[in-house]
Amino acid sequence: MDTVRVDCLFPLAVSDLTDDALSSLYARADRSEPWLRVNFVSSVDGAATVDGVSGGLGGDADHRVFDLLRALCDVVIVGAGTVRAESYGPMRLEQPSADRRIARGLPPHPVFAIVSHSLSLDPASRIFTDAPVRPIIITTDAAPRDNRDALAAVADIVIAGVDELDPVAMTVALAERGLTQQHCEGGPSLFGALIAAGVVDELCLTVSPQLAAGDAKRIAAGALAHPGELTLGHVLVSGDTLLLRYEVAR
Ligand SMILES: NC(=O)c1ccc[n+]([C@@H]2O[C@H](COP(=O)([O-])OP(=O)(O)OC[C@H]3O[C@@H](n4cnc5c(N)ncnc54)[C@H](OP(=O)(O)O)[C@@H]3O)[C@@H](O)[C@H]2O)c1
Repeated sequence: MDTVRVDCLFPLAVSDLTDDALSSLYARADRSEPWLRVNFVSSVDGAATVDGVSGGLGGDADHRVFDLLRALCDVVIVGAGTVRAESYGPMRLEQPSADRRIARGLPPHPVFAIVSHSLSLDPASRIFTDAPVRPIIITTDAAPRDNRDALAAVADIVIAGVDELDPVAMTVALAERGLTQQHCEGGPSLFGALIAAGVVDELCLTVSPQLAAGDAKRIAAGALAHPGELTLGHVLVSGDTLLLRYEVAR
């Protein structure tokens, strides 16, 4: 009978890696090439939330990678549903992350881009009033004009699509602003639209060692013509948690 050596299959432990070593596993060599990375955490049985938010799923290693990924990108893209559910504040990084960016020749903070059709976002929110960099609102031409005018005072408005979001137009518009390294933190509706449009290059997925059951959302929602194929970039472990990096097969 064949024998299998399983010890050689053990992946790198996050705790064995310095921040620089961990960052190097995610850094893109050519920043001029547009790249859209998406980051999620999920329970083993596929739940993207516990009690309506993702906070109950991520542990220390997930938080560490979450922060390091923000430190590598030009723009953080988030759907308005997630901004509201997760009570996002301004996209202001902690000083060590800002220092890490400056050392790489980047501005201290990435741009915060929020995707919304309804534009039900409060211009007086700290997201805008305490923003270290003027945020971007990505919306459609059919979005409510009053809300759009109010938000134009505190953010740049990018129109991507007429009645529905056009993810290709969104990624092109961001790249034309020099924001080539695009990092999306969800949520599921936005991710589903990005997958359907074929604009996702990479998925970083933390698999949290929990069974959540229930009817929580998965990490992607919406209809898809064909399942997308992924290739595995790396696997990291932190205790019983897996941190996976996949690239979309072209
Ligand atoms: N596990 C994780 O890693 C993770 C990550 C992120 C979020 N979540 C969870 O996911 C839940 C939110 O889910 P969600 O699907 O509502 O999140 P979402 O995709 O962030 O938000 C949906 C909203 O974003 C805007 N949006 C997204 N896609 C759009 C499109 N294609 N066109 C136009 N607008 C678009 C719309 O905003 P308007 O309503 O303003 O028009 C839409 O209602 C929360 O419970 C959050 O905690 C989990």
